[in-house]
Amino acid sequence: FPSALAGSKAVAKEIAALIRAKQAQNQPCVLGMATGGTPIYLYAELVRMHREEGLSFKNVITFNLDEYYPIEKDAFQSYWSFMHRHLFNHIDIDPANIHIPNGSWPKEDIKKYCAAYEAELDKLGGVDLQILGIGLNGHIGFNEPGSSIFSKTRLVTLENTTRIANTYEFENISKVPRLAITMGISNILKAKRIVLMGWGQKAHIIAKSVEGNMTEQIPASILQQHSDCTFVIDEPAAAELT
Ligand code: F6R
Repeated sequence: FPSALAGSKAVAKEIAALIRAKQAQNQPCVLGMATGGTPIYLYAELVRMHREEGLSFKNVITFNLDEYYPIEKDAFQSYWSFMHRHLFNHIDIDPANIHIPNGSWPKEDIKKYCAAYEAELDKLGGVDLQILGIGLNGHIGFNEPGSSIFSKTRLVTLENTTRIANTYEFENISKVPRLAITMGISNILKAKRIVLMGWGQKAHIIAKSVEGNMTEQIPASILQQHSDCTFVIDEPAAAELT
């Protein structure tokens, strides 16, 4: 797409069509959500469609990919706050249908918590459409390079480069959590459809993910084995594709 805005609008259109198709069949629509700078235009466009075009989210169930750990959900930097600020506060989704990993769950119980998070998703039949961004190191969710293709929802250590990239959300790097809860690669791959969005400075890692060898060292490259995955990118992010 010529711009991030144009790409985001196209993804919003696809999501709206899916929500409406599910509504017509009286079925829930399960969306996998990402945070960060990448989906901001997408969420703004979905809010606009809700306000101006009557797009209802009453049948929508969401599962977010990840959350910092530890973090209080009402901290400004939490992904819980992010999602409410950019999307959930402005649409008619049922709060009971929103799922975001709880960044303040007691650590000794976190394995059980993560297993329950993905079990709830599986019980609903899995994700219909998963939105992804991509880290400069190729991470998807917070599955950093080296994450296994079989990885499940779990507590992970963030790479320092990831903490540096996300420092802008915090006072300084020492305040960026060192850990996060993330859905695993195996969970992401179970989505029926995956749309990864990438804008601007991501050309190098986009080219490696799409045209390079599939390797756990570049988690996004694993998406090559998914049967219905599209990378939606703008012109700068496409610059290194051959
Ligand atoms: C966030 C997430 C991450 C981001 C990635 C890109 O929920 O899963 O993988 O998508 O770090 O971040 P931005 O969009 O800020 O460049």
